[in-house]
Amino acid sequence: MRVLVVGSGSREHALAWKIARSPLVDGLFAAPGNPGIGKLATLVPIKADDVGRLVEFARAERIDLVVVGPEAPLVAGLVDRLAAAGILAFGPTAAAAEIEGSKAFAKEIMTAAGIPTAEHATFREVAPALAWARARGGQVVVKADGLAAGKGVVVCDSIEDAERALREILVDRVHGAAGELVLVEERLTGAEASCIAITDGTRVRMLPPAQDHKRIFTGDRGPNTGGMGAFCPTPKVTPDQLAEVQRTVLVPALRELARRGRPFRGALYAGLMLTPRGPRVLEFNARLGDPETQPILMRVRGDLVPLLVGAARGDLHGIELELDSRAAVGVVLAAEGYPGRVTTGDDIHGADWAPSDDLQVFHGATAADAEGRLLTAGGRVLTVCALGAGIEDAARRAYGGVARIRFRGMQFRTDIGARP
Ligand code: AMP
Ligand code: GLY
Repeated sequence: MRVLVVGSGSREHALAWKIARSPLVDGLFAAPGNPGIGKLATLVPIKADDVGRLVEFARAERIDLVVVGPEAPLVAGLVDRLAAAGILAFGPTAAAAEIEGSKAFAKEIMTAAGIPTAEHATFREVAPALAWARARGGQVVVKADGLAAGKGVVVCDSIEDAERALREILVDRVHGAAGELVLVEERLTGAEASCIAITDGTRVRMLPPAQDHKRIFTGDRGPNTGGMGAFCPTPKVTPDQLAEVQRTVLVPALRELARRGRPFRGALYAGLMLTPRGPRVLEFNARLGDPETQPILMRVRGDLVPLLVGAARGDLHGIELELDSRAAVGVVLAAEGYPGRVTTGDDIHGADWAPSDDLQVFHGATAADAEGRLLTAGGRVLTVCALGAGIEDAARRAYGGVARIRFRGMQFRTDIGARP
């Protein structure tokens, strides 16, 4: 099989690493990929959201399976266009991906399917939104409706916070058109967990539950990011609870999407908050999580490709997921300034040691210069991942890997896996 991975983050590096090991695969390409992925695959200089050129490439190169990492090409209809060209793709159609592309649509699905979520309302104007927030003492979360690279969510402590967030999104339009509509919801408390299903539209295979770390600084301080590290499995979601999430969250969402003529194939990700009143969905994503995928895939044993193909074809019958019983931890190394304006072009030292099955350095925003030196190229630069006997052991091993790497302004949290 000839496989094309779309994307250039650490998630896509982890996917490429697993796919490259499949005996079914004899050609692996990545668009645009990164220098780490370039050691496993042929890099194709096409941006992940350049739908037209990706389809053209896949057709010309007789690609058998396209694995789409990020949300933007899904929402832009890459999978629809590939299907029209007769090319199999892992990922949902644009209509199904709207469950991530519009938070208001996701809420509509949740309400219709009876999926537990935060109390909420949608607004186009500041004044009524502020009144709604005031009635809840400012303890609300303000979310831009559309895609905002994980930065469109503001957790508020006061009515002043809420007003600022509403003005930024609705008036200053800091997220552009993604902020034409805002969702305001009650602020929940509890631990978070990411529960991801690989699905063919009806059947699901649950990936092991993971915990992400959204805030930039150790101790859950500072602004939200795309994710600063993850561990898997999270003991906060027991196997029984995962089965319950499958039954009460993921399967009802899939049924409701199918009922509306938007069958979903690919990875459906439920971001949950485990409240005293039970799990509540904070968001759905139409793809695998980054950084959750990195530790999750460290634990997947055997061949990932049949699972991806089965989901893409709409037939997961007889395809199971085999997991390593060990735990995995992934620590993100981010550039100076992240999640704000980042500096790029800094030399990365110490990331070139040979990885092993138990310790991996997945590249995200990296670049190589003309002499082949490795440079930072964006916010989340690398994810260092390790397997260990338990989460503590895996974290110790991952931080052992982190200690070998340095670049100017390198930021990372020191508490990934410290409080599982
Ligand atoms: P989202 O992109 O909707 O998952 O939001 C990003 C992060 O904001 C989540 O991972 C939570 O940490 C936080 N968050 C979102 N919604 C809520 C909520 N209703 N209550 C408390 N925190 C939230
Ligand atoms: N780590 C959160 C996400 O992928 O959206």
